[in-house]
Amino acid sequence: MPDAPIKVCGIAGSLRSGSYNKALLRAAQGLAPPGMEVRFFDRLEQIPLFDADREAMGEPEAVAALKRAIGEADALLIATPEYNYSIPGVLKNAVDWASRAGGGKSVLAGKPAAIMGASPGMFGTVRAQLALRQALHSTGTFLFPKPEVYVARCEGKFDAAGNLTDEPTRKAVRQLLEALAAWVARFR
Ligand code: FNR
Repeated sequence: MPDAPIKVCGIAGSLRSGSYNKALLRAAQGLAPPGMEVRFFDRLEQIPLFDADREAMGEPEAVAALKRAIGEADALLIATPEYNYSIPGVLKNAVDWASRAGGGKSVLAGKPAAIMGASPGMFGTVRAQLALRQALHSTGTFLFPKPEVYVARCEGKFDAAGNLTDEPTRKAVRQLLEALAAWVARFR
């Protein structure tokens, strides 16, 4: 019997409509290998700032949806911008909420994951990705080490409609997704 399809929960750490990182994730949807489906969780702006008092009153609906999306997926794929050498607050906030186990096991614990990122700068989110690795290390997420995808000087790599047109970058994303599929297979 063929393996079940690999469901990937894609999260971009940017809220803006013209985000390069959202565009990178959309490109990943199209570049996924056969048998892998990348679904976008696109509700970060609806997740309130983490507050343990708020949490004690009951999980906000958008947080429950985030946890469900991660929990149902075989793997996580995060496209992060770099803000001040780190990850944007909205992404850290989502990771913080998702890490909360509520007495059970967090949806991030043991979840296979990959990260990538795009920046107009020359380092292509290398520092943000290191910061994200640090936070996800705490959550027990199974991030694979390589290949790494840093999309530097990203303006020239997408067309006006937000399509990823740069062939080397398309190849790198494809290789990342193939490695993610192999990574998921190790945990099945
Ligand atoms: C940035 N940007 C940025 N870029 C970078 O390479 N290193 C950095 O440290 C920062 N710092 C930073 C701080 C803040 C507050 C903003 C708003 C921006 C630029 C950033 O990479 C650029 O705005 C990207 O386009 C953001 O990603 P999205 O929204 O296009 O996905």
